[in-house]
Amino acid sequence: MNLDLKNKTAIVCGATQGIGLGVAQELAKEGVILILVARNKKKLTHCINSLENSSKHSFICVDFSKPKELEVVVGSYFKKHKPTVHILINNTGGPKSGPIEGATTDEFVNAFNMHVLCSHILSSFVIPGMKKERYGRIINIISTSVKVPIAGLGVSNTIRGAVANWSKTMANELGEFQITVNNILPGYTNTNRLKSLFEKMSNSQKKPLAEIEKNIINSVPLKRLGAINDVANIVTFLASKKASYISGVNVPVDGGRTGSL
Ligand SMILES: NC(=O)c1ccc[n+]([C@@H]2O[C@H](COP(=O)([O-])OP(=O)(O)OC[C@H]3O[C@@H](n4cnc5c(N)ncnc54)[C@H](OP(=O)(O)O)[C@@H]3O)[C@@H](O)[C@H]2O)c1
Repeated sequence: MNLDLKNKTAIVCGATQGIGLGVAQELAKEGVILILVARNKKKLTHCINSLENSSKHSFICVDFSKPKELEVVVGSYFKKHKPTVHILINNTGGPKSGPIEGATTDEFVNAFNMHVLCSHILSSFVIPGMKKERYGRIINIISTSVKVPIAGLGVSNTIRGAVANWSKTMANELGEFQITVNNILPGYTNTNRLKSLFEKMSNSQKKPLAEIEKNIINSVPLKRLGAINDVANIVTFLASKKASYISGVNVPVDGGRTGSL
């Protein structure tokens, strides 16, 4: 299938590892020009150098826990480079895990800042260009918890729901400009984030790591963890012209695990 993505421009957030890096790698293979976003200059430079067509890509180094700073830093990047961005991948580190009882107000505020406000700020920079191009793809990496809340991820369950409703509202408003807005709901995907979640489960349940992993795999109908590429492939498809009539949806990429339709 020809995805026709060559020379489109994409901002990919959380792009130094895990799902974000996997998405950047797939888009780069399709000839997309990338603007990577994360907090660490060294890692960002290393990631760019590892991508296809590395000389065409650039990065913005910023911390999503400071949305005001994001606004300033992205604002000066746009003022200087005037990019027309066709694809925005909203993605960042997951909120702190733990039950909702006892979660602090700071944890909620920080997660809201990182996941809702930063997605909104970045969208506000790219939407004018997308409208002019009559081509826009806003893709948010969130969680299956928007369908079924996940035990032990209280703050995350709450904030992901907010992102999903923000996203649906954006899809309703932006559709007439041929801008689609969709959410990817990854299941257990083999990244550093997952490794640290398994370690926490192993400590709290006092069970060996291997047993935790085995139980998780058994709970997935496809009987394996997700690979980063399982997510990156569907993101790449949704970013393309081939997905031009798909908007306002949640797409689980979870091996069938989520217990709802
Ligand atoms: N992996 C899974 O099984 C799974 C399942 C469901 C949902 N998710 C969600 O999907 C998203 C990506 O997951 P992942 O496993 O790929 O995560 P990950 O491996 O922890 O990667 C997170 C990325 O976000 C960047 N980042 C983290 N905090 C940031 C901040 N404050 N400001 C700017 N960038 C920041 C990190 O880069 P720097 O550290 O260099 O800044 C990194 O590139 C997360 O929201 C996660 O909760 C993951």
